[in-house]
Amino acid sequence: MGPLRNAYLDALGIDRWVSRNAPAEVAAMPEISPAQVSPAVSRLPTPAPAPAPFVPLPPSGDWSELRERVAACTACDLCKTRTQTVFGVGNTRAEWLIIGEAPGAEEDRQGEPFVGRAGQLLNAMLLAIGLPRETVFIANILKCRPPANRDPKPEEVSRCLPFLSNQIALLKPKIILAVGRIAAQNLLATDAPLARLRGKLHTFGEAATPLVITYHPAYLLRTPSDKRKAWEDLKFARAAHARVTAGGNAPGNG
Ligand code: URA
Repeated sequence: MGPLRNAYLDALGIDRWVSRNAPAEVAAMPEISPAQVSPAVSRLPTPAPAPAPFVPLPPSGDWSELRERVAACTACDLCKTRTQTVFGVGNTRAEWLIIGEAPGAEEDRQGEPFVGRAGQLLNAMLLAIGLPRETVFIANILKCRPPANRDPKPEEVSRCLPFLSNQIALLKPKIILAVGRIAAQNLLATDAPLARLRGKLHTFGEAATPLVITYHPAYLLRTPSDKRKAWEDLKFARAAHARVTAGGNAPGNG
């Protein structure tokens, strides 16, 4: 069997086998000349070099350095379509951390999370439990906008989550309120539906920070009938926070 034929079969992923009579058969086989090989085959692709493995930097101990790292991040393809990164906003001494999914179009334009219609509803939800927006810290699972607001891909989340973990380590919030399925499922590493995750007190990370789940404000804009359940969640979170700051245990699930 000629070397070109072997290369052709190899390129198509076809196993080569040689019969016991191979020498005689091979002698009888017509040789393939380079002119008979289609250009696509003669230009067999050389395998692309494997991409360098992604190694996240060790966590930063400093907010400005972390902000610069996020702004310079090219760890996934979202850096090619973003206008700017959306680091997060608020009081870096806040007791409450609110976590959403990812920037939308308006957030990508302004560089701040929750500034569109969903943001206005989030502000109202927070105010309803006595929390003006500027008293909390607001961040997202992703720091860059997914094109057309599609769901984050698992690889995008895994590349971006170290930034959020670093923010949580710096902030040391007393409580986290995750809004929406994407934030809840990624923080809890589960694919359980939101309905099963809300109404319970969870914890996040090694510090076992109390974590409460509620609906995303964009969902509530589409489904106002669930605002009542969101209100229950907010009261539940407020009670958990009160218990933690009073030095006691957070409330149970009842
Ligand atoms: N939705 C989110 O989850 N986060 C934002 O910042 C804006 C909309």
